[in-house]
Amino acid sequence: MPLAAAAAAATAAVASGQTVCVTGAGGFIASWLVKLLLQKGYSVRGTVRNPDDSKNAHLKELDGAKERLTLYAADLLHFENLKAAIMGCDGIFHTASPVTDDLEKMDEAIIGTKNVITAAAEAKVRRVVFTSSIGTVHMNPNQNPDIVVDESCWSDLDFCKNTKNWYCHAKTIAEQTAWAMAEEKGVDLVVVNPMLVLGPLLQQTINASVVHIMKYLTGSVKTYVNAVQGYVHVKDVAKVHVLVYETPSAFGRYICAETMLHRAELVEILADLFPEYPVPTKCCDEKNPKKKAYKFSVKKVKDLGMAEFIPVKQCIYETVKSLQEKGHLPLPLPTRPHQSMSFC
Ligand SMILES: NC(=O)c1ccc[n+]([C@@H]2O[C@H](COP(=O)([O-])OP(=O)(O)OC[C@H]3O[C@@H](n4cnc5c(N)ncnc54)[C@H](OP(=O)(O)O)[C@@H]3O)[C@@H](O)[C@H]2O)c1
Repeated sequence: MPLAAAAAAATAAVASGQTVCVTGAGGFIASWLVKLLLQKGYSVRGTVRNPDDSKNAHLKELDGAKERLTLYAADLLHFENLKAAIMGCDGIFHTASPVTDDLEKMDEAIIGTKNVITAAAEAKVRRVVFTSSIGTVHMNPNQNPDIVVDESCWSDLDFCKNTKNWYCHAKTIAEQTAWAMAEEKGVDLVVVNPMLVLGPLLQQTINASVVHIMKYLTGSVKTYVNAVQGYVHVKDVAKVHVLVYETPSAFGRYICAETMLHRAELVEILADLFPEYPVPTKCCDEKNPKKKAYKFSVKKVKDLGMAEFIPVKQCIYETVKSLQEKGHLPLPLPTRPHQSMSFC
């Protein structure tokens, strides 16, 4: 047997017989994670608020779902339901969280995390992988702009609060709570901190990070902001989750990102790839100097085996094509074969 095939067969052998739980299974990132876990031979228990809701139908169509995917009804706030899904599992991927700046929803991120870590301890799972965010790492105005942002950095809670960045505020508290509880209860925890996640959607609904791109194509915004953002492909984020779960030596936090772009660069890529849409050409802030990207490191995840990330231009292209295919964006008129992209 060739080496690569032998390695794949060995992984499948490890995965088969293992049952893992993915919280918020119907979400953007979690759907790709469930797909990958099924592909690798795991049995998956996915928690969703309502298994019969049509927005989760895509999960049932995934390869291997009929044989190895079970959906459990569990709100993050309902400990007993979460526990029922988690008991008997070898591992947990905790991805469910409200992705919004709505202050009223923020407790759900924190209470949900507490519930998952408590259930993990009771179920004595092998490892919990928690989907955190770069938002728990870099929101800190006092950070020296010359330092390289890595896994040792933490967002400043007061800064998040004062800027009403409730999403980063809640995610930071949730991640800190997860670390404190994991230590207290003896749970093996590993955390993934992705930058903004793009790529094709498996689900039919639109998630928040995809709106980041979509709003520049619909005419709903006329200018772009003077800001920078880091990006990563959803398939790479799913891959890193599985990598940190399967690698016994994985520990702590893992930043996931391909590159950072100023919004001017993002709209330029969009306008170049998809000239048929009304992509804004003006910045809303013409007074201040152009914001600079901060330096960041993904050395830790690369050292663990994540050799390379999918280029950002491909992330953007695949996101827009997917939005078109799912009917969220009008197809270009008059109908003509769309420019295809070569990523070599
Ligand atoms: N996308 C990004 O750019 C990005 C970047 C960094 C980190 N993350 C993190 O990645 C995770 C997944 O995000 P995503 O982008 O895939 O967003 P998403 O598609 O909105 O997924 C979030 C999932 O969490 C579920 N959820 C929220 N509140 C819940 C509750 N109270 N009870 C049960 N389920 C609940 C949602 O279910 P409903 O649909 O029923 O609400 C949804 O399935 C989140 O933890 C997010 O913070 C995302």
